[in-house]
Amino acid sequence: MNIILIGFMGSGKSSTARFISRNYSFRFVDSDRIIEKKLKMSVREIFENFGENFFRSIERNIISSNLSFCSDCVIATGGGLPCHFNNIELLKKIGWVFYLKLSFKDIVNRVKNKKNRPLLDDIETARSLFDKRTSCYENAHFIIDASRNTEEIARDIIFKISS
Ligand code: S3P
Repeated sequence: MNIILIGFMGSGKSSTARFISRNYSFRFVDSDRIIEKKLKMSVREIFENFGENFFRSIERNIISSNLSFCSDCVIATGGGLPCHFNNIELLKKIGWVFYLKLSFKDIVNRVKNKKNRPLLDDIETARSLFDKRTSCYENAHFIIDASRNTEEIARDIIFKISS
């Protein structure tokens, strides 16, 4: 059984997945890291050299070529991955999908000093992306309050899959 974390950039998907992997018996998987390893480039370099559409096609591809073979994994997904094509429906077949929900204000506070996310370069664009994606994220199996600390979020997720 797999746990899949979705949500906007900076909502804590990777740190929560790492925590779950360290404290419970799940293997850590991160869709962005798989892509970077495959292309031997950072996400920013992929966007700059090949554009967003190319990145989305790689994301789509790794769902079937990597994520669908996961077993007992906790998977952190890139913020846009579930919202392109019908990816969220594919994810829901691979495992329990959790939306780590956080307000836009909290997100901006968390990511303001990090420069590794091309889609956060312009705050107005990021805001409209956030609004557009909310209804997609809400199709997750579970919606989790991500304003709490990592341990509380992880415990909530484990509780939900065990009950
Ligand atoms: C993106 C989120 C990023 C990364 C890429 C695009 C998005 O992942 O996949 O920069 O479209 O929201 P994180 O959510 O892990 O930052």
